[in-house]
Amino acid sequence: MREKKVLAVIGCGRIASSAHFPAFAQMDNVRIKYACDLLIEKAEKMKETYPMIENVITDYKIALEDPEVDAVFVLTPNYAHYTITMDSLRAGKHVFCEKPITINYALSKEMAEEANKQGKLLTIGVCNRYNKSVEMLEELNRQGRFGNIYHVYCSFRSFRSIPGLGGDFTTKSQSGGGVLIDWGVHFLDLILYILGGAKLKNLTCDAYSEMAKDMKAYKYTDMWAEDTSDVENGTNDVDDFITGYIRTDKASISFNGAWAQNINQNEMFIDFLGDKCGARLTYGGKFELYDGATLETIAPEYDIPQQHHMEDIAFVESLYTGEKTRSHIDNILESAKLLDALYQSAEIKKEISFE
Ligand SMILES: NC(=O)c1ccc[n+]([C@@H]2O[C@H](COP(=O)([O-])OP(=O)(O)OC[C@H]3O[C@@H](n4cnc5c(N)ncnc54)[C@H](O)[C@@H]3O)[C@@H](O)[C@H]2O)c1
Repeated sequence: MREKKVLAVIGCGRIASSAHFPAFAQMDNVRIKYACDLLIEKAEKMKETYPMIENVITDYKIALEDPEVDAVFVLTPNYAHYTITMDSLRAGKHVFCEKPITINYALSKEMAEEANKQGKLLTIGVCNRYNKSVEMLEELNRQGRFGNIYHVYCSFRSFRSIPGLGGDFTTKSQSGGGVLIDWGVHFLDLILYILGGAKLKNLTCDAYSEMAKDMKAYKYTDMWAEDTSDVENGTNDVDDFITGYIRTDKASISFNGAWAQNINQNEMFIDFLGDKCGARLTYGGKFELYDGATLETIAPEYDIPQQHHMEDIAFVESLYTGEKTRSHIDNILESAKLLDALYQSAEIKKEISFE
């Protein structure tokens, strides 16, 4: 029996309670020595649900000073990823940091450099790389099933669901952006992954913040981070609609994303257009293949294990082997660079070239 890895979890909010703690509870090779949250009641509530938590703290530095801790999970809002991750790496800890890496590419690059300098693993929570459908599509592409994938189109559009309006999510200095960095990060990252990595050539993008210019008057069907909203005194300076076009050395990619729009049709899919075969992936779900030779539609049968569980298993496994996983920061930096350039293009209203 291998010795258990000792973890500290920093941030006991939604992603901690909905994804990571349920995964830890099913893993027999981890100890959760610390659950940390600035709000002690959130860490205490987590301990009530998960008695495996050994200590509850508000200052994450206590966990960093503990030589027994092997790795830290950074599950805080985006703006705090950088500082906590850098402190953890410098304290000699391996780190799992939720997506997006942080609020911009320059800081993301520094984080990657620090991890490599310290010789520590830094894995990012791009959980879709552990989604069974994504794994299957990546393999099918490697096997040549699609022929040449010349274009990928994706849509991540929702009717009216800006999260926590006025709070961290809609404050650029805290979140780094809106629907692109929050939802688009997953779509664009998994596209780059399925393509087998792609080198950026140039891109153009437009971003809009139209739906909640008057925050108090904004009507919604869902605000899925409601407790952090502040429509009286808060800020909303991020994109609620985004559209763009990206050229790479492989496929071109076009996309539309909306946290809110006046179209009551939610769309969450990615189309891979290959010259032999195409595929439509329903985000978080399954895919269908459309075979150009037989004109068949093929819907493979398979189960989809919980992707957060799979990513946590892979990260903890990497603590034993020391090997960088598919979601190690070195493999994710290209998507951080992409997000940054898309925002830059939207701001200056011009194409950005990498050549
Ligand atoms: N991979 C995914 O599918 C996915 C889904 C949702 C959220 N996320 C990411 O997870 C992160 C957290 O999102 P969330 O929805 O759980 O947010 P949240 O606001 O629900 O939880 C964050 C928690 O961190 C705590 N916190 C903030 N600063 C802290 C500090 N310095 N020390 C200790 N605790 C601190 C807050 O008090 C809060 O309880 C974000 O980066 C988000 O983008 C990822």
